[in-house]
Amino acid sequence: MNQDINTPALRIGDIPLRHGLMLAPLAGVSDHPFRAICRRFGAEYTVSEMVSAQSLCYERMSKKASVGEHSRTAPLACVHKDDVPMAVQLFGRDPVFLSEAAKMIEDGSYAGCRSQAAPAAIDLNMGCPVPKIVGNGEGSALLKNPTLAGALVRAVKAAVRIPVTVKIRIGWDDDSVNAVEMAKILEDSGADAICVHGRTRTQMYRPGVNLEQIAAVKAAVRIPVIGNGDIYTAADALHMKKVTGCDGWMIARGAMGNPWLFSELRAALNGTPYIPPTLTERLTLAREHMTRMMEEKGEKVGFAESKKQVAWYIHGISGAAAARGKLMSATTTEEALQILNALTENSRP
Ligand SMILES: Cc1cc2nc3c(=O)[nH]c(=O)nc-3n(C[C@H](O)[C@H](O)[C@H](O)COP(=O)(O)O)c2cc1C
Repeated sequence: MNQDINTPALRIGDIPLRHGLMLAPLAGVSDHPFRAICRRFGAEYTVSEMVSAQSLCYERMSKKASVGEHSRTAPLACVHKDDVPMAVQLFGRDPVFLSEAAKMIEDGSYAGCRSQAAPAAIDLNMGCPVPKIVGNGEGSALLKNPTLAGALVRAVKAAVRIPVTVKIRIGWDDDSVNAVEMAKILEDSGADAICVHGRTRTQMYRPGVNLEQIAAVKAAVRIPVIGNGDIYTAADALHMKKVTGCDGWMIARGAMGNPWLFSELRAALNGTPYIPPTLTERLTLAREHMTRMMEEKGEKVGFAESKKQVAWYIHGISGAAAARGKLMSATTTEEALQILNALTENSRP
């Protein structure tokens, strides 16, 4: 497998990626602390949580000076210097909002921007299945409107200099699988790479990723194709590569509570052994993750949001089910740490 940066696995625009191991966008999960942790274990490209193009535009137009300070959208688009290259993902269905928002992200001019580094790319969300998003004609609803999807890519391409990538599903439902048609339109409209999540919208997250459709997209376009869906082990990733020829991988749920998955994938690509984390290492990272979230988001919000992350780290450990319940109702950091410490104690031989 290719490890030489002079002949990278793929390029997003002119950014070379050695392995093509990417952390997928995960709303409510892939915030900066999680992205930084995944990067430490081998993710070489990350994508922000999805950001509303319309919200960024409205906030910029607001006459209230403090709108950026209190914005819940702006922090989602923030690029941190220890987390590059990172793409910012936008969702929307309006070419004007999308192109304006993309421009503001590129030049850091949206209200409340605290970016320390430039974004690597703008990624357009054409895969989100959530009813509220789809009901607005956004996310995976765009799969039903390839002409508009192409127009959105053209509008954003015309607005920014950085690469524009698109994340799609393979179609709306089993009767309307159109990943190849979509991919060709997106490529012709100027997309620099496409990530294909091998499920339809109606499939939501049910098991069963259609690798044949990812392969068909790869065969149909010249731009890089990133495969996505159900990668939980190195064997899953290698199998996806073998069947589809994908240029890289986006990992989503497999990394939640298990950022070591990136180390496992790297080891497999480099032909080196992978040593899974010990229980102590898992619990130590869970604590660090919680601390980082509280430092970045403030104690109250950080603690509340970190509980689900911590719960993922303990998945599969003896006593985890009971501990997870207690963790969710914990009201203080001390309580949460005690629950984790007890898990360590109970697991001692
Ligand atoms: C909690 C959660 C949040 C997600 N948020 C986003 C998002 O903001 N943008 C996006 O394009 N996909 C999002 N996805 C989809 C994932 O990026 C990915 O395509 C999907 O989970 C399939 O990959 P996996 O099987 O490796 O999990 C989300 C998925 C989950 C489970």
